[in-house]
Amino acid sequence: MPDKVATRTLQQMKAQGQRIVAVTAYDYPSAQLADAAGVDVILVGDSVANTVLGYETTLPVRMETILHHLQAVRRGVQRALLVADMPFLSYGVSVEDAVYNAGALMQAGAEAVKVEGASPRVLESIRAMVGVGIPVMAHLGLTPQSIHQFGGYRLQGRTASEQEALLQAAQAVQEAGAFSLVLEVIPASLAKRITESVSIPTIGIGAGVHCDGEIQVWHDILGLSERAFKHTKRYAELREVILNALRQYADEVRQRQFPTPAQSFEVDK
Ligand code: KIV
Repeated sequence: MPDKVATRTLQQMKAQGQRIVAVTAYDYPSAQLADAAGVDVILVGDSVANTVLGYETTLPVRMETILHHLQAVRRGVQRALLVADMPFLSYGVSVEDAVYNAGALMQAGAEAVKVEGASPRVLESIRAMVGVGIPVMAHLGLTPQSIHQFGGYRLQGRTASEQEALLQAAQAVQEAGAFSLVLEVIPASLAKRITESVSIPTIGIGAGVHCDGEIQVWHDILGLSERAFKHTKRYAELREVILNALRQYADEVRQRQFPTPAQSFEVDK
């Protein structure tokens, strides 16, 4: 097995021009598979809201939800760096709460936490978390916890002033101590400028090819999502595979073709 991925591995990968591969996972089997495939970073994302729990947004996710899924993922990961999302309002309100909530995620097995935005309170929280030894991944651009402020899932950084603000936010999270930065749904040219302007690795999603790495959502790349999104690619069509398998199972049960003697038990006479 290649060496365990640590936060400093990502810094080295950026320095060596090696791309970082990241994916979300929400349970034990998906974590095991992602780790076996050699993915570098596994994120227990608050996208669990949309992908697993059937919510429209990530706002209903609470600390208990992430902790529950994190513990399952932890049991399946050996090599990848395991990052846990900090849910809406678990940081960015009070710095003390942010540190205790991040600490709870670390005690449940996370090796880093991820926070969205770069408001003064978020920056203060990043500094405080890093100050007690918790590595923090930052997240800018289309940050889903602010979806109602954005008015929908829309490209961010469209105007020169929005682009300038994102460049400054990237500098700010780096200065606050973040060890890496997710850039979501921003123009590829802006992601390139940000990537060149910071020393921490950038990990894109809907941010073009110039980031230091890529993160995608498990259900999107495996074709489990109901919709196909522009920022993603379906490497398999597991929805179809599963539907066909379930239909065949139902059919065989109804036709008395399953179970057969091969799946049945009997005692010797
Ligand atoms: O929750 C999530 O899945 C994320 C990624 C899209 C970066 O934050």
